[in-house]
Amino acid sequence: MTRSETLLAWIDARFPLSKNWKAHVSEYYAPKNLNAWYNYGLFALVVLAIQVVTGILLAMNYKPNAAQAFDSVEFIMRDVPWGWLIRYMHTTGASMFFVVVYLHMFRSLMYGSYHKPRELLWIFGVLIYLVLMGEAFFGYLLPWGQMSYWGAQVIVNLFSSVPFIGPDLAIWIRGDYVVSDATLNRFFALHVIALPLLLIGLVTVHLLALHEVGSNNPDGVEFHDDVDPRTGTPRDGIPYFPYHVSKELVATVVFLMVFAAIVFFAPEMGGYFLEANNFIPADPLKTPEHIAPVWYFTPYYSILRAIPPVAGSQFPGVVAMGAAVLILFPLPWLDRSPVRSIRYRGWWFRSALAAFVVAFLVLGYLGTEPSNVWGQFGSWLGGADVATVVARILTVVYFAFFLLMPWYTRRDKTKPVPARLT
Ligand code: HEM
Repeated sequence: MTRSETLLAWIDARFPLSKNWKAHVSEYYAPKNLNAWYNYGLFALVVLAIQVVTGILLAMNYKPNAAQAFDSVEFIMRDVPWGWLIRYMHTTGASMFFVVVYLHMFRSLMYGSYHKPRELLWIFGVLIYLVLMGEAFFGYLLPWGQMSYWGAQVIVNLFSSVPFIGPDLAIWIRGDYVVSDATLNRFFALHVIALPLLLIGLVTVHLLALHEVGSNNPDGVEFHDDVDPRTGTPRDGIPYFPYHVSKELVATVVFLMVFAAIVFFAPEMGGYFLEANNFIPADPLKTPEHIAPVWYFTPYYSILRAIPPVAGSQFPGVVAMGAAVLILFPLPWLDRSPVRSIRYRGWWFRSALAAFVVAFLVLGYLGTEPSNVWGQFGSWLGGADVATVVARILTVVYFAFFLLMPWYTRRDKTKPVPARLT
């Protein structure tokens, strides 16, 4: 035995290193037909790592104190060596996290990756998405700019519309009657330790669930079912290492080039990644004219605005906004199609998915604009402006995608699925 083999044997006798390497890497079989859509899971892991490392470095110079927070961020940007790079990597990482996760989720919709036996994998994914939204929301308050302050004010105020307990609930969340130093302190604690721990825990169980059932693929055919009797391995599978790893490394380099291009050339991304108003220190006495959340929340914000208040209460809108996210959970049971992949589905599902994507994107766009973006068009629309009417129609499309799914996926005319991967 060579020295390294002796060392490995010594470790293996005490820790299951080789066993886990084989089970999860070198003898972990993945379908041979995975395409570029299957890179986003790894990209999400890469962004998570970037956020953790840059977040730790930012925390070394950031002051979670209403009197100092804004200035400490400016100090990081101007005086801390490489501070600007660390901060721009973190702000770009926040938006890129959502870009990557939205594409990752869209892939799951296209290929029916939430179907049996991947229901739990999907549910862990939706939990990750929820925690990620919380993480982004809490982090956004920390620079203590105008948008940080008023964005948090608007969102926390939504909780006060909950019947009976609302006003107390909002005070409990803020720790004060308005967003204040107490709020900043607790959001800091949640952002730097509580939610990251939860996120990392959820990503771990997400990957454990993935390795229990294996990847789905663009054909949606269960490749594990076709085993070569001589080798005992799936005929249409290839070992994750080195085959997929080499492909994914190339993709990751390309992804990091795009990431770096944004960090160096367009960190504000035209106001979508960093808003102009957030370069102004928080002023509790001066409400900005147009308060909008960051782009990744805007589809839900549009749904909130689309639902008219009842008896002056915004609660129905808040419920609709929450329902728009929670409805992702039962997806595996709403889809009754006998096939998984869009490749073998009929026009009903394809059209429904297309309509859903358009609705999500347009709602997202509308959420970034002031509510009267297209002007008032008078009483023939019941006094509502065109944008609100469009948002209402698209909100119906959004929910119809899920609620009508049991019906249209059953009546869809599917194509025959091949026995082996194409
Ligand atoms: C931090 C966020 C996340 C990370 C790091 C992550 C990581 C991964 C990785 C590495 C894979 C395997 C490679 C791939 O299929 O791309 C995967 C698969 C999967 N993920 Fe995620 N994921 C995240 C968020 C989500 C979310 C938000 C959802 C859905 C709501 C989700 C649903 C799935 C599903 C269904 C699969 C299996 C896909 C298939 O086999 O076709 N993930 N995830």
